This record gives sequence, C-alpha cells and structure tokens, in this order.
Amino acid sequence: MRIDHVAIAVNDLDEAARTYKEALGADSVEFETVESEGVRVGIIRMENGRIELMQPVGDSSPIKKFLETRGQGLHHVALETSDIEGEVGRMRDAGVRFLGDVRPGSEGTMVTFVHPKSLCGVLAELCSHPK
Ligand code: CO
Repeated sequence: MRIDHVAIAVNDLDEAARTYKEALGADSVEFETVESEGVRVGIIRMENGRIELMQPVGDSSPIKKFLETRGQGLHHVALETSDIEGEVGRMRDAGVRFLGDVRPGSEGTMVTFVHPKSLCGVLAELCSHPK
C-alpha cells in the first residue's frame, strides 16, 4: 500500500483552498463534489500524493458532525491498494474493523474506511484507483 491522500475537514472550502494554495505554493486546486460521502472537496496535487480539503454538503454529512464536535483539522489518511477487496479480506482476517462496504469515492475510486479503533485512533480510508 502507498499513501494516497490526507483529508482535512474545513468549514469554508473556498477560503481553505485559498489558504492552502498560498501556504503551499500550489499551482491549482481542483474541486469536486462526492455525493456518496456528502462532501465537496478541494484537491491539491503534491509530488507524492494529494491533500483533500473537505467541506460538508447538507445536514446529513458525517463531516458536518465531525466539524461540530472537533472543529477543523485532520480527518483521515488514505491508503491506496490495487486490490481493495483482497486487502479488505486480508485485514478483516487480521481483526481490522471497517466502516461500511467498498463503495464509489472521488475520481472514480472505490473506497472503504477502517474504524479508528483498529488503527490507534486514526481514521483510514482504503482506496483503489480505476485501472
Ligand atoms: Co479520502
């Protein structure tokens, strides 16, 4: 597996995108809405991965609850694998707990999430890019 992206929950995506673009000297921020996760994301491409700024869309987004209880900050780390179903099976056998089944994520990826209790308090996304 490799680190694919780091996701940060933000209150105001446009403002956060400006802040990050300026601070990191990024060329551009790409915006996308991921209906399945109830978020609008701003993607900053780094040399070896991406930073995703996420703002909730609608009241049922889990990110909205995260922001209300914990405020802005690191939300999850995403790990990329070419065989997500195989990796989920291997990890389940190792006792790792998941939050939901493998499902469509941003940019045509397939994703699922590892319960933070299984990784010392860190929410991790597993993802596979389209071949
Ligand atoms: Co993610």
